[in-house]
Amino acid sequence: MSGHSTYQPQNGVMKWMERRLPIAGLVHSSFIAYPVPKNLNYWWTFGGILAICLVAQILTGVVLVMHYTPNTAMAFSSVEHIMRDVNWGWMLRYLHANGASMFFIAVYIHIMRGIYYGSYKEPREVVWILGVVIFLLMMATGFMGYVLPWGQMSFWGATVITNLFSAFPIVGDPIVELLWGGFAVDNPTLNRFFSLHYLLPFMLAAIVGLHIWAFHEAGNNNPTGVEPKDKQDSVAFTPYYTIKDLYAIILFLIFFAWMTFMVPNFMGHPDNYIPADPLVTPAHIVPEWYFLPFYAILRAVPDKLGGVLLMFGAIAVLFVLPWLDTSKVRSNTYRPLGKQFFWIFVFVCLTLGWLGAKPAEGGYVTASRIATVWYFAHFLIILPVLGLIEKPKPLPNSISEAVLAKKGGSSAAAE
Ligand code: HEM
Repeated sequence: MSGHSTYQPQNGVMKWMERRLPIAGLVHSSFIAYPVPKNLNYWWTFGGILAICLVAQILTGVVLVMHYTPNTAMAFSSVEHIMRDVNWGWMLRYLHANGASMFFIAVYIHIMRGIYYGSYKEPREVVWILGVVIFLLMMATGFMGYVLPWGQMSFWGATVITNLFSAFPIVGDPIVELLWGGFAVDNPTLNRFFSLHYLLPFMLAAIVGLHIWAFHEAGNNNPTGVEPKDKQDSVAFTPYYTIKDLYAIILFLIFFAWMTFMVPNFMGHPDNYIPADPLVTPAHIVPEWYFLPFYAILRAVPDKLGGVLLMFGAIAVLFVLPWLDTSKVRSNTYRPLGKQFFWIFVFVCLTLGWLGAKPAEGGYVTASRIATVWYFAHFLIILPVLGLIEKPKPLPNSISEAVLAKKGGSSAAAE
């Protein structure tokens, strides 16, 4: 889709370089001349926002590491040292901790956008699958990062989650010992988590590169879900979408700054300001907010192995989503039932998140079970059946037609 470069080197040096390593041409065809459907709305700015989040996490993380000590005897106090003694250390740490939350807010919006507009459908299955791999890596990175300050929630969160693997027959216990580097969460665990927490973001960056390559090959989806037909349907990425993305990035950064400077501990748990103590279990062990829906699914099942399998299954099902949705129509804009079930699904995910923070008792468990059943039913029953029985609204003949219909006020074909 990015096509052959129309890039013309402006001077001798660039001409020389272009014949040897045509990076400028690649940038030009991918981010300047790259044709993009002209009707992308603001939900499409979250890909760029995510790229900024990744860069911000790597930059703040690399400087934090210069002052952090991955040793159980010193980790907690090295973080306090960053907060109190290192110049701007408090800011770096709060940016990094809140940056993780911002990253997940953005990725959840990005994923839901993809689901609403059917961006996972043919020919974008690989874009989607790479996205799910990214999501998994983000979760692993976030989990291991939370262990590093070696507070009470770090320690007990690590203990609960690593212990889950022991539910697997035969391979379970060896896996847990491998994760721990011993027979309990201790210094070797902290060391390997530190090493992997540093490594994974760079692997993420590489997979993001593939993700971007893949959607440049297929071309962007758009709110109508109808592929661009001719030149009329697309505009050049620069300046139209560079400016739109930049505007959204600035708004996002303002929100990020507000979180970091005004309510820096809102997303955190106060118990993590208590140094890890293997002899004192916190009253409620809760993971970071972005894991809560999966935590609720885990605890909805009375059997440990069953819970672990369902929790992993909740992500595994995303890999096959492109083949579960049988609808011929991509975008929910034209799917009256699909749209309603989409919003029910969003509600179910939010409810699971809320339940994940509640104690696993009484009505909360019942509600978690109902929501878990709905979560899986959405993918395994509702989406396959809906595509067969639903009568979609008529699709516009082209993106231009949909855009003009919207301008003229007749909204049937517009988003
Ligand atoms: C670090 C994380 C990620 C980055 C930096 C990233 C980046 C991007 C960018 C720049 C785009 C194009 C603009 C846009 O559509 O917003 C995009 C599109 C897309 N992303 Fe991601 N993404 C990330 C994670 C994910 C995840 C976790 C998923 C799904 C599980 C996903 C699924 C998709 C899909 C399906 C598209 C195609 C949308 C279209 O064709 O219009 N991405 N991504």
